[in-house]
Amino acid sequence: MTPLNTSEWQSLERHYSDIKYLSMRDEFALDSGRFERLSISSGDLLLDYSKNRITKKTISKLAALVESLDLSGWIEKMFTGESINTTEGRAVSHIALRNRSNTPIIVDGEDIMPAINAVLAQMKRFCGKVHSGEWLGYTGKQITDIVNIGIGGSDLGPAMICDALEPYGVEGMNAHFVSNVDGTDLSTTLEKLNPETTLFVVASKTFTTQETLTNAQSARAWFLQAGSQEDVAQHFVAVSTNAEAVAEFGINTDNMFEIWDWVGGRYSLWSAIGLPIALYVGMDNFERLLDGGHEMDNHFRHQPFEDNIPVVMGLLGIWYINFFGSQTHAIVPYDHSLARFPSHMQQLDMESNGKNTNRQGQRLRYGTGPVIWGTPGTNGQHAYFQLIHQGTQIIPVDFVLPVNSHYPEVDHQSILLANGLAQSEALMKGKNAEEVRAELVKEGLEGEELEALLPHKIFPGNRPSNTLLFPKLTPEMLGQLVALYEHKVFVQGVVWNINSFDQWGVELGKQLAKAILPDLEQGAEVSVHDSSTTSLINLIKQLRTY
Ligand code: F6P
Repeated sequence: MTPLNTSEWQSLERHYSDIKYLSMRDEFALDSGRFERLSISSGDLLLDYSKNRITKKTISKLAALVESLDLSGWIEKMFTGESINTTEGRAVSHIALRNRSNTPIIVDGEDIMPAINAVLAQMKRFCGKVHSGEWLGYTGKQITDIVNIGIGGSDLGPAMICDALEPYGVEGMNAHFVSNVDGTDLSTTLEKLNPETTLFVVASKTFTTQETLTNAQSARAWFLQAGSQEDVAQHFVAVSTNAEAVAEFGINTDNMFEIWDWVGGRYSLWSAIGLPIALYVGMDNFERLLDGGHEMDNHFRHQPFEDNIPVVMGLLGIWYINFFGSQTHAIVPYDHSLARFPSHMQQLDMESNGKNTNRQGQRLRYGTGPVIWGTPGTNGQHAYFQLIHQGTQIIPVDFVLPVNSHYPEVDHQSILLANGLAQSEALMKGKNAEEVRAELVKEGLEGEELEALLPHKIFPGNRPSNTLLFPKLTPEMLGQLVALYEHKVFVQGVVWNINSFDQWGVELGKQLAKAILPDLEQGAEVSVHDSSTTSLINLIKQLRTY
């Protein structure tokens, strides 16, 4: 089923021809109610999507499209545990992990809520022991440092949340994240730590990931320089689906926290993969994060599409990617503690929707997932905003703005917010030739000098952005934000008729790395690869000093 053949898509194509030159600046001038009409609230979270190249009709037409593609049916399938990850034969039930209403969710004929609750209880007991000092290091000292060893979904989400919730950190507790197989990552982390007070959480859904296992083995070797084999149990716990591999690695399975195959890696921070979060900010705050996710789930499941934040954001993405031809999307949090938010969103979106084949196995004829990128404002303004304002592409931007800071003793917040608002206003309004001319004249320029400078100072404007505004970055709000983006990605996957929950595209590189490793390690010159790879391997062998 291609969305292109629906009458709703064709109607959108006609609508696009009618309004593609619509000027947001004119629309705002003509319509004082544009913000009210094109914004949505859910609890404390506001989405202002009025600075987009749309009319209310655009959203109605996009909503009609997803109606015709049975978005409601797909949402129900996800929320009721149907096996919608068809290429892996799995349900997609991360929503169950934060199902605070505890209503049964049936996957493969079984209610999964009791198992989820049991792991949450195990996490609570464990965090309680570590925080109270009941669980001590091998020399009787309190645990002060958690090192999460994982990669991708077993790293990015928890690392992002720990950074973002730093103000909620349990006193005396530090969280570290080691992901890269580049030894620099592990070495620079360990050199600051004391094995007596360090707890490693080895987080891997499969427990087969090369980077994670390599790092975990090296961490254990580092630990064993101080502690003994019997002490390992006090300092290494695991999060996985794979008890056998955990045991084989040497971690006591009593200290293993279970996850399940119906949790995708990039959707797993809500599960025991969130253990480092709970250890760092406390179980109560981890549960507040789950509450926020659940609140967004209810909003997504029950709000009409035109008043539904993830649906509207997903549809706006479709509008720019499939009609305006946008290929990238920037997420710019005006909150330094959300520095890792764009990276988590990058995996979430690009691993989910970076696909060229539909559910039926046919090659697609339309654009799918965009390149997701971004860094915190205001830093980005002094780096890449030039291109967003005056480059040749349309890059939709999400501005993420908390009104209040957790650090009010340094009163920078108004400056920060003024900058965020200024960027979205500037992108929308731009600056036309008459305005530039008037400015230059005022500065005393004239004649050739003025004419030469003028074109460089024009801002085309009419560049789209969303603003997500909320009072403060609490655990609940962060939960809402992450769940919002998860559902946005889901909506787009439904429109594009793709399976957003597999990731076959990461496999080929893994396979080839396994084949190249012995070639790199053996002494003789190799010749079995293409001439580029072969030459690079042989050159590395000549240059290496290890
Ligand atoms: O290589 C991609 C991937 O499979 C991600 O989807 C996943 O989040 C990551 O690797 C880590 O996988 P695991 O948790 O099994 O180690």
